[in-house]
Amino acid sequence: MSDDEQIVVRHLGPLAGSVLVPGAKNSVLKLMAASLLADGVYEFTNVPDLTDVQIMAELLAPIGVSTQRPEPGMLVMANTGDVTPVAPYELAERIRASVNVLGPLLTRCGEVRLSMPGGDDFGARPIDIHVAGLEAMGATFKFAHGELHATAERLHGAEIALPFPSVGATENLVTAAVYADGVTTIDNAAREPEVVDLCDLLVKMGADITGVGTSRLVINGVERGALRAAGHRTVPDRIQAATYLAAVAVAGGELEVLDARAEHMQNLLARFTDMGLEFDIGDTSLRVVADRRLRSIDVPTLPYPGIATDYKPLIITMLSVADGAGIVTENLYPGRFRYVEELIRLGANIRTTGHHAVVRGVPRLSGAPVRAHDIRAGAAMVVAGLAAEGETTISGVRHIDRGYDDLVGRLAAVGAGIERI
Ligand code: EPU
Repeated sequence: MSDDEQIVVRHLGPLAGSVLVPGAKNSVLKLMAASLLADGVYEFTNVPDLTDVQIMAELLAPIGVSTQRPEPGMLVMANTGDVTPVAPYELAERIRASVNVLGPLLTRCGEVRLSMPGGDDFGARPIDIHVAGLEAMGATFKFAHGELHATAERLHGAEIALPFPSVGATENLVTAAVYADGVTTIDNAAREPEVVDLCDLLVKMGADITGVGTSRLVINGVERGALRAAGHRTVPDRIQAATYLAAVAVAGGELEVLDARAEHMQNLLARFTDMGLEFDIGDTSLRVVADRRLRSIDVPTLPYPGIATDYKPLIITMLSVADGAGIVTENLYPGRFRYVEELIRLGANIRTTGHHAVVRGVPRLSGAPVRAHDIRAGAAMVVAGLAAEGETTISGVRHIDRGYDDLVGRLAAVGAGIERI
């Protein structure tokens, strides 16, 4: 992959056929970090082929966990017990999920040095909620020279009420609590399917966690070293699934989305139904029909089970060609509207003020060169290309590769005019 690569999209007509949803980036990265907790060999399946997975593997290698990819979709991680609790800057700054080594390393080693994590380009992403929770469990933090140094001879249980149901903070606190002395409760915990997936792995490893999938998690700490390695199938990626729904929504047609979990997307499917999509829902797949112009809706982003912020660029793109006007309100990040400038280049009528975007639908967009500024914005540019007359050329493809497993190939296979050059 090089930075010169581009994706070229043309509207060729309706989409038809089936597309398989890969495993979730935001789950597998956390499963990988959890392998720091116990020695042994972990076999993870349904693992997407993404740059972020490679970066996480490179980050974990010097800490003490090696990674192999014996076959597509499978990741085998080996923890020999020789763990060095230091996450170097060069890798930590490239990926937000590097912060997920904090809980496992601190609880296992009693100490961790971590460069402040990086991630996407949509505003500050602090870790004060992670830090406050771990301090309540007895950890001490020092910050200097862009690095965090946390120590705790042994963490102890605590009653923690999160000020906001942060995904990353919930994950760090759960993984830290598994070896803490006593009981930890986390109120207002994040309930995302990816958080549930991590808890499911931890329970298989021998952790004592109740309330999984609810906003109150109760973790009864076990002796340090009592957990054992386990295997796990990564939960399917609801955001990648939504991307294929958005693609067919603007291009028209009928798709079978295999390994999509409707129960993880209930609110989104309800709102997409309001917009005019029709669904036939199965246990592990869904069929979607898009046979009319979309209708506009108003949407706020919220923590799960609300409409995820990661769906938002897709929804704004759909609204760009819908009938009427819709207001999208961002409630999670201070700024996540940079791709709106790119949509406007494609002829969309969008005005942003503060946390709101007012989108007045136009019949069609008009192809132009655009840039992907982050993973989800990049996917939205691809969807926008399917809604545009003429050719849309997307640069910044490396962002899309961080979170999408062969988006181009999967869309081309269902009839989209898309190629990578
Ligand atoms: N926040 C704080 N303090 C904290 C933690 C979070 O103020 O200590 C704020 C953040 O700044 C943000 C909001 O709370 O405004 C949400 O943050 P959260 O901790 O829930 O998100 P995250 O764990 O950093 C994960 C995903 C994101 C996704 C969010 C929200 C991973 C690696 N990332 O981030 O995914 O947008 O949850 O659902 O799991 C992506 O995949 O493209 C992506 C950005």
